[in-house]
Amino acid sequence: MATIEARDFKILVTGGAGYIGSHTVVELQQQGFPVVVIDDLSNSRASVIGRIGEITGVEPEFHRFDLTDRSRTAAFFADHPGLGAVIHFAAFKAVGESMGAPLKYYRNNLASLVNVLEGMRDARVGNLVFSSSCTVYGQPDELPVRETSPVKDAWSPYGNTKQMSEQIIRFSTAACGIRAIALRYFNPVGAHGSALIGELPLGVPANLVPFITQTAAGRRECLSVFGTDYPTPDGTAIRDYIHVVDLAKAHVAAVCRMADGRAQADFEVFNVGTGDGHSVREVVQAFERVSGRKLPVRYVGRRPGDIVEVWADTSLAGEALGWKAEKTLDEMMLSAWRWQQALEGQ
Ligand code: NAD
Ligand code: WQD
Repeated sequence: MATIEARDFKILVTGGAGYIGSHTVVELQQQGFPVVVIDDLSNSRASVIGRIGEITGVEPEFHRFDLTDRSRTAAFFADHPGLGAVIHFAAFKAVGESMGAPLKYYRNNLASLVNVLEGMRDARVGNLVFSSSCTVYGQPDELPVRETSPVKDAWSPYGNTKQMSEQIIRFSTAACGIRAIALRYFNPVGAHGSALIGELPLGVPANLVPFITQTAAGRRECLSVFGTDYPTPDGTAIRDYIHVVDLAKAHVAAVCRMADGRAQADFEVFNVGTGDGHSVREVVQAFERVSGRKLPVRYVGRRPGDIVEVWADTSLAGEALGWKAEKTLDEMMLSAWRWQQALEGQ
């Protein structure tokens, strides 16, 4: 692990009140890193900051503002000298919404990134971890997909912002005096074991696991399985689901790699998945197994834009970051279910 002194290495986590950000703040604080969070709460709640405090014993410093505000972002960096790294989660992430509101996505996801990079350059903050996505690969020609696989034409404005963000970072590192690691997440699911933090989807969930847990809780009538005629062993689509706590730990490993001087280039990219693919049917079965509930399911046509199958080659992340996902699909489903039950109890 790290040779740096964690307590002297303050980390800015943008979007730190959100789903993946909040779990990452927990892991960072548990490793002794001081954390400052920026979030405008456009897709999260202020209470998450207190929950992080309950889990770790330390409430992170919190600043609420919109990172697309250039002067506010610049003022933040000027007021916070000596940051060791930035982990940049803040972005909009709803693929479907981005189809109808592309400019909302380009403005938020790209303008906030540029403002953060300018702030880092001006304040001489040397290390950036960026939230990218397996969506940049589209449907890969070869599986498991490696980091060297081609980035395919984006299907959604959201996916396009991830591709563009990676390019913006790649072309800015040298000029801005920073090193960066982009982590390409596969499908993050599950929640913290405390059931104090987890995913908070607004409205009807677009993603599989929150839809499953809300259906089991009686909030949705029935899960629609999108497509049973895929060329996969059971006909349903396959993804690489990763527990959000494992994903959070990959961020700590990425920060340590850069801080310890182990990075081999100014800009590196790593897949963050488990390396295993699971079909929609397997996910439903795992959920039913751990929850002891039978899910009402109907089988419908494919969802437009969905790829058939994807799972990660994680060997590069294993070698470079010394990181590996540890939690099983059953653990992912059980933690997601406990989180849903905790939400119902609120
Ligand atoms: P999330 O919506 O829960 O968290 C994002 C946080 O950023 C929210 O708290 C939101 O309020 C904040 N935010 C958004 N725009 C902001 C702005 N302009 N200024 C300040 N705060 C802002 O999403 P998440 O699932 O935690 O995703 C985190 C990152 O990971 C995003 O960049 C997302 O695109 C990426 N990602 C997510 C997934 C996934 O399936 N969840 C997969 C791949 C990549
Ligand atoms: C998983 C599988 C659905 C809902 C999305 C983004 C991707 C990344 C992760 C950010 C698919 C099926 C789903 C339902 C279903 N995010 N499904 N019934 O589409 O793999 O990836 O989140 O970067 O960019 O596109 O995730 O959870 O929506 O779907 O049958 O009600 O579950 O068809 O096969 P997806 P998902």
